[in-house]
Amino acid sequence: MGSKYILETKGLNVGYGPIHVIYDLDFRVPDGEVTIVVGPNGVGKTTLLKAIMGLATVYSGDITFEGQKINEMPAYERTKLGLGYMPQVGNIFSRLSVAENLRMAAYTVNDSDMIKDKMEFVFNLFPVLKDFMPRAAGTLSGGERQMLAEGMVLMRDPKMMMVDEPTAGLMPKLVTDVMKQLKDMADETGLPIVLVEQRARRALEFGDYAYMMRGGRFTFEGNAQELLNHPQLEAMYLGAVEVRELKTIRE
Ligand SMILES: Nc1ncnc2c1ncn2[C@@H]1O[C@H](COP(=O)(O)OP(=O)(O)O)[C@@H](O)[C@H]1O
Ligand SMILES: [Mg+2]
Repeated sequence: MGSKYILETKGLNVGYGPIHVIYDLDFRVPDGEVTIVVGPNGVGKTTLLKAIMGLATVYSGDITFEGQKINEMPAYERTKLGLGYMPQVGNIFSRLSVAENLRMAAYTVNDSDMIKDKMEFVFNLFPVLKDFMPRAAGTLSGGERQMLAEGMVLMRDPKMMMVDEPTAGLMPKLVTDVMKQLKDMADETGLPIVLVEQRARRALEFGDYAYMMRGGRFTFEGNAQELLNHPQLEAMYLGAVEVRELKTIRE
């Protein structure tokens, strides 16, 4: 019996050592859709992704991926299982060439034909990377780096992809480019994507399902459009009004 959710957490409590960051979080990622997690700086968005990847301490609760409980699984096993993660920083090797970065990313794949196929797939999606193959990754522009980082995750053939603030620090024009790249990727691959963003409106415009996070808890869960059109989006976002409006989950 297949669930419509590829990933679910139940009652998740997470932190770093004694520092408790996330409280009783129920997070559900619908298969084949784009899920957005928005919230201001420091509310625990990155920590949620790290917990799912096995990179933060889970105090209690469950994480289920494709029906399998993965709480105890080491990070590299989760990657092999198909959890793709693009961290906000340190997601490329600046001194290596674009081609080397992509090859390096496929370290879990032993078959060289398969690596070639994956590279072709990435170049189809982001043709500009093909022209840049010999260039050191550190010489790419901000938007191109994000493309490369996305390509690197795709090299590992993920079943789901989590992207942490891909537009952080980019100029407004590049924000549009990066969002468009992600949209194209989502459309082309049909992969379920979890996009974590501080730029709430820009991200919500491009998502299907959405969560808003404040102080390690969700203050909204529902359709992205609904949150986008919510009269109190700004207030909820900035925390001027604490609105807890968890929607009944679509069954
Ligand atoms: N490695 C760490 N050790 C201790 N505290 C951390 C660590 N990483 C993040 N935190 C704290 O956890 C909280 C949430 O951080 P984070 O998940 O990065 O927020 P966001 O991604 O929403 O900006 C912050 O208070 C931050 O200081
Ligand atoms: Mg973060």
